Amino acid sequence: MISINNDTCIRCGKCQRVCPAFIPVIEKDEQPLLRHPEVCIGCGHCVDVCPTGAYTHTDFPAESIHEIKRDILPSAESLMELIRSRRSNRTITATPIPQRSLDMILEAARYAPTAQNSRQVHLHLITRDIELQEVEAATINYFMRLARFMLFPPVKLVMRPFLRKLYDEVPALMAMNEQFKQGQRPCICNCTALLILSAPKGYSFGSQDCNLAYQNASLMAESLGVSQIYMGFVQTAMFMMGCKRAAKVLGIPKGHKAFAIMGLGMPALKYAKYTTR
Ligand SMILES: Cc1cc2nc3c(=O)[nH]c(=O)nc-3n(C[C@H](O)[C@H](O)[C@H](O)COP(=O)(O)O)c2cc1C
Repeated sequence: MISINNDTCIRCGKCQRVCPAFIPVIEKDEQPLLRHPEVCIGCGHCVDVCPTGAYTHTDFPAESIHEIKRDILPSAESLMELIRSRRSNRTITATPIPQRSLDMILEAARYAPTAQNSRQVHLHLITRDIELQEVEAATINYFMRLARFMLFPPVKLVMRPFLRKLYDEVPALMAMNEQFKQGQRPCICNCTALLILSAPKGYSFGSQDCNLAYQNASLMAESLGVSQIYMGFVQTAMFMMGCKRAAKVLGIPKGHKAFAIMGLGMPALKYAKYTTR
């Protein structure tokens, strides 16, 4: 529910200019009017833009409204340097990721935009060793089944001319399987945490919302010195397994689909340079 205080509203009209649902009607010498407040999408723009705090919104109690500390915002130059220097650093160690870093990474993900502010992205963090191992095993098993099928002589004979690029990947998959047998976790790059970003299967902006949240989280991870790697192998395996089984392995709600998976861990080294891209 939204309301506007007639006495503190200064009729500046800023809320009218930013509201995506066209709810406020502000005329210079008229009482401010909220037209169809029931269509509010709960984005909080009216509350955040109002210079006099004239809005009351039940989604945003006083303690959820914060002043922006402009003096500590990164400069364009420092943000650009962070973007340029971010790397998928795969030198993951067993050192645990500090809890505060994980909290900040999750918070960064939550601040990403979502279609119509529907905020259907579910964030699930896996840090337990047994669960990480289960994700790794399910992923490598899927790819080994695929490789064996592809290498079955009659299949190879027919498929290879059409799937040359995929066949080129087979030696790498075999090497990963060897690493797995030696106790490594090549599919998840030995990460000590996995952040699963999921949304309801039938939600049409699931991929967009999850991947925008991913990017926020990945830049936060980089700035904290935590390594992040996009888990494409895991995602492919989970997609091929089907939502039900993937939801079980990944620990996400039933009916949800993982649209992005981030591997996280403390790296053994820092990159010295970045190359032009
Ligand atoms: C959709 C997607 C899937 C990816 N899957 C994997 C993966 O499964 N394993 C991996 O080590 N890196 C994966 N990556 C990371 C890319 O290999 C990496 O971003 C690219 O090589 C560029 O390196 P940079 O991230 O350090 O700039 C993936 C990246 C994207 C965007």
